[in-house]
Amino acid sequence: MCGIVGYIGTKKASPILINGLLKLEYRGYDSAGISTMEKDSISVMKDKGRVKNLYDLEGINDLKGTVGIAHTRWATHGKPSKENSHPHLDNSNTFCVVHNGIIENYNDLRTFLKDNGYEFYSETDTEVIPNLISYYYKKGNDFLKSVNLACNDLKGSYAIEVICKDMPENMIVARKDSPLVIGKSDDEIFVSSDIPALISFTNTFYFLNDNEIAYISKDNIKFYDNNLNEVSKELTTVELSANSADKDGFEDYMLKEIYEQPKAIRETIGTSLNGSKINFEGLNLTKEYLSKINKIYMVACGTAMHAGLGVKSNFETLCNIPVIVEVASEFRYRNPLIDENTLCIYISQSGETADTIAALKLAKSKGAKTIAITNVIESSITREADYFVYTHAGPEIAVASTKAYTSQLVLLNIMALYFAEILESSTESRIDNIKKEILKLPEKAEEILKDITNIKNIAHEIHSKKTMFYLGRGIDYSVAMEGALKLKEISYIFSEAYPSGELKHGPIALIEKGTSVINILTNSTLVEKSLSNIQEVVTRGATCIIITNQDFDISNFENVIKIPEISALLSPILSVIPLQLLAYYITKEKGLDVDKPRNLAKSVTVE
Ligand code: F6R
Repeated sequence: MCGIVGYIGTKKASPILINGLLKLEYRGYDSAGISTMEKDSISVMKDKGRVKNLYDLEGINDLKGTVGIAHTRWATHGKPSKENSHPHLDNSNTFCVVHNGIIENYNDLRTFLKDNGYEFYSETDTEVIPNLISYYYKKGNDFLKSVNLACNDLKGSYAIEVICKDMPENMIVARKDSPLVIGKSDDEIFVSSDIPALISFTNTFYFLNDNEIAYISKDNIKFYDNNLNEVSKELTTVELSANSADKDGFEDYMLKEIYEQPKAIRETIGTSLNGSKINFEGLNLTKEYLSKINKIYMVACGTAMHAGLGVKSNFETLCNIPVIVEVASEFRYRNPLIDENTLCIYISQSGETADTIAALKLAKSKGAKTIAITNVIESSITREADYFVYTHAGPEIAVASTKAYTSQLVLLNIMALYFAEILESSTESRIDNIKKEILKLPEKAEEILKDITNIKNIAHEIHSKKTMFYLGRGIDYSVAMEGALKLKEISYIFSEAYPSGELKHGPIALIEKGTSVINILTNSTLVEKSLSNIQEVVTRGATCIIITNQDFDISNFENVIKIPEISALLSPILSVIPLQLLAYYITKEKGLDVDKPRNLAKSVTVE
């Protein structure tokens, strides 16, 4: 999704801005542009296509300005084109703006501005912003007041950077429901949509809250609320190494991140299981509160939602509380039954997903307690939730989520145990056995990754298929959904997950000679039933791939991927790994870009 970068300092801004944009590439985009404050004017260089193409634009090397803003655009209003790319100038070339988010009332604002003599040169919602600022400026307001008045007119979401020809040493940034961080070193200020883009420049940051504005010069920043009352802010030091986002010798980020899973699981477990009772930093829920909970909602999008599905049964079995897992974009627009005795858990790798954050705000407004689980330090969701807990997967750059998912599953399982311990809703021996199994997960994940020849061979065999089915029962069905999502998003092969028992109720009509069916089978009590479903598709000519840790006669099946034994409750954390690798190698066989699949963004900051 759109990314923004800004710089005010003593150095030439353009290389710093382009470098920052390159670091934001993983978010997904279709156009890029920068703008710097030159001697008497604002210079804008932009086009559709890759960030590296900016280096080829005529005159880019002549930019000398030490103040600048930059943007990668992921098209929402208007196709990818030079005109629609950011930055956007106002009609008088006085203000220049980059924007991440969506201005919902842009049509009304455009009409209003047109009525006041303004013209528009792009199809974007963003172009109303510099012109609205200009409208207020011409009425005699100063730079800050004009931006403030314009922001107060905007409905929707925004993170903006604004520079003004008349104030060449300054920049104003503002945010509402869209990410923005400000990094500070001795005599330089950096702005970005996320921390990793800036970590090679600084590790100290300010975080803006919704509806706040920052007025920046190279050695001073002032913060204001939306009534322009000054607010004070602490500079926060963030521990993140600059090379944690490098490829480390792997061909792609996705493969690197798949291989990082043992480490990510280990670090997410951290010291939580070291003592006799679970130590859950960040949560201090009492028995009195937990006993009153009537239900738990787990709300998220995509892979993060699948993590919720993968722990639903564990929460219910261990804690005796009903759990409902919902897609955030649905949850936020219905009227879910929530009261002060409902606990809502939000899962988001990026911590910036617009639908998930909106769903969290809805639950809060109805009096529920909210917990956010995120992988990104100081992400927006941490500022909205009552409690937040970090997964420790490290930066996830590939668009397809892998290590974040397994880390979310680990963390949520530990959370279920933590609740069960407080509630005394499960026996001590049961809780202890699961803890021991969790501690063995990193080793078992390593075991899967040690030899993947079988998976590569299967990928080679099936990569040209047009359709694939993923089947599983119970918890295996949640993994089937994740496997199907992984495959479709990077290989563009149509893939669908079904609960095995549903086959006969329709989908079996699609099975014919050569159809690929991937089966996940980790629950000993359901082996027989699942095998007979598999037999039904084999009889109809399907090529079956089985991922299992169960013992049964495999001589009838050609493609069996064995994974280490683990109790069914925790099996998604292991059974998903072959599915990730299968999706990865099928995509490589097809010669596609695994890290940056078409149409997708890493951080979905608009709904
Ligand atoms: C799929 C994938 C997406 C994300 C979803 C939520 O591989 O990455 O489905 O899981 O967009 O993103 P977060 O977790 O950042 O809220």
